[in-house]
Amino acid sequence: MEEIFSLKSSFLEESKAATSLSELQQLRVKYLGKKGLVTLKLKTLSSIPPDLRPVYGNTVNEVKRYIDEELKKREALLKAEENKRLIHSEAIDTTLPGKFTPFGREHPVNKVLSEIIRIFVSMCFDVEEGPEVELDYYNFEALNMPKYHPARDMQDTLYISDDVILRTHTSPVQIRVMEKKKPPLKIIAPGKVYRCDADISHTPMFHQVEGFMVDTDIAFSDLKGVLESFIHSFFNVETAVRFRPSFFPFTEPSAEVDIGCNFCSKKGCRICKNTGWIEILGAGMINPRVFEMVGYDTEIYSGFAFGMGVERLAMLKYSIDDIRLFFENDIRFLRQF
Ligand code: PHE
Repeated sequence: MEEIFSLKSSFLEESKAATSLSELQQLRVKYLGKKGLVTLKLKTLSSIPPDLRPVYGNTVNEVKRYIDEELKKREALLKAEENKRLIHSEAIDTTLPGKFTPFGREHPVNKVLSEIIRIFVSMCFDVEEGPEVELDYYNFEALNMPKYHPARDMQDTLYISDDVILRTHTSPVQIRVMEKKKPPLKIIAPGKVYRCDADISHTPMFHQVEGFMVDTDIAFSDLKGVLESFIHSFFNVETAVRFRPSFFPFTEPSAEVDIGCNFCSKKGCRICKNTGWIEILGAGMINPRVFEMVGYDTEIYSGFAFGMGVERLAMLKYSIDDIRLFFENDIRFLRQF
């Protein structure tokens, strides 16, 4: 009996020292497990004289119950403490400042590009693209500019090899599309172009949108109608439009299109060089020589083409006087659009 009571007191001491659930579990095994100290005592019951067995058995069982209850209490206590610790360590400090996520926005050039595309798509034009690294053939030859032709001087070409260049305009897309498809065609071709030129109104890379329409019976009046609609939609319906005779090897007749200067209301200022007009694009009726290059019958088909500079249109729309601002990535500039 004394041994049983000493088991109880040794348990009490050890359980006070236990500080974790796993230590308590070890105690449970040590005292109440299959080979535990208390369990062993119960197993010796048969060696106790019969008249003492009830008292002995009751006492061992009592100690067993006591230890079991004690362990349960201590386990509950430790679990509660553990929970408290978790709640604390996982708590969110709502006094911390939130993380700032800066939002980007569309670049003004892309914004204007999207607007141009939207207007032409609304007039049922399809959108096509071509490579920026282009063959001399598509950029010049097929557009009626043979090698050594003086018209090539108009475009400050960046050469990769004798036959491979960075395209100087989006007009080569005309040829690529016409080689693949038969009329009727109503296409615009937006994209980057490259010229060896850099000043307040030129950057070595800029954007153009080419447009062309080929069918039977396409006349200059169709070109005027489409471009006037575009200009009135892009600027406003009051914008004056003027076609001025010009020259491009791939169109005949050719024109440059001016709009009435919106800085001085056509009175004449520094931006329009006192003319009241600002040039915005080149255009014309597709030269039959170009149709021959792609195997179209010039007796059946006619068409018009135009090409505009996207940065130039963006500068006019937003009154920007230096094209380089578009490519310096100064956030203070870009934020304004
Ligand atoms: N490709 C010409 C240029 O970049 C513009 C143009 C396109 C002119 C189509 C006429 C017809 O200068």
